[in-house]
Amino acid sequence: MKNIFKIVKDSNPNLRKRCEEVSEITPEIINLVNDMHEYLVLSQDEKYASKHNIREGVGLAAPQIGINKKIIAVYFEEEDEEGNIRVVDHRLINPKIILESIKEVYLSGGEGCLSVDDEHKGYIYRHFKIQVKAYNAITSKEEIITARGYEAVVLQHEIDHLNGVLFYDHINKKDPFMVKEDAIRL
Ligand code: CO
Repeated sequence: MKNIFKIVKDSNPNLRKRCEEVSEITPEIINLVNDMHEYLVLSQDEKYASKHNIREGVGLAAPQIGINKKIIAVYFEEEDEEGNIRVVDHRLINPKIILESIKEVYLSGGEGCLSVDDEHKGYIYRHFKIQVKAYNAITSKEEIITARGYEAVVLQHEIDHLNGVLFYDHINKKDPFMVKEDAIRL
């Protein structure tokens, strides 16, 4: 399997750089984002992940595989209130957040990252709802995507990578578990 990327860790200063826009959507770029997607799918396959010693991930940004371009993949399944499985699959080129809710959300278990092996405890407050403009490599169109809750958290985490930002940058150093009463806890 060709998709076993070597993940760039946060000790590498390249992860702190701003990524370049993709100037042209080429077949190579589409292959790359599809490979990033496949990596996430495989990482969620317990047998495959343990055999190849890779961590489970729900999102991946190109700088994490050594490519300093604005490309992200997000993949996970979630169950709605009625018990229906929803597959969230984003393969985005040049994603840009164009709208952010004032309402905030945070994960009660904090966030993790394939590039970060050390534990960083604390809450990360994100916008509960966002709109992202991007080239969607699944539909081959420029689109506006609306995301809420966990999906919005993951997208913001990945888009942060494109600006050299890591999740723990957002943790309040003096009070990592500070609770904002108005924020939604997931
Ligand atoms: Co990350």
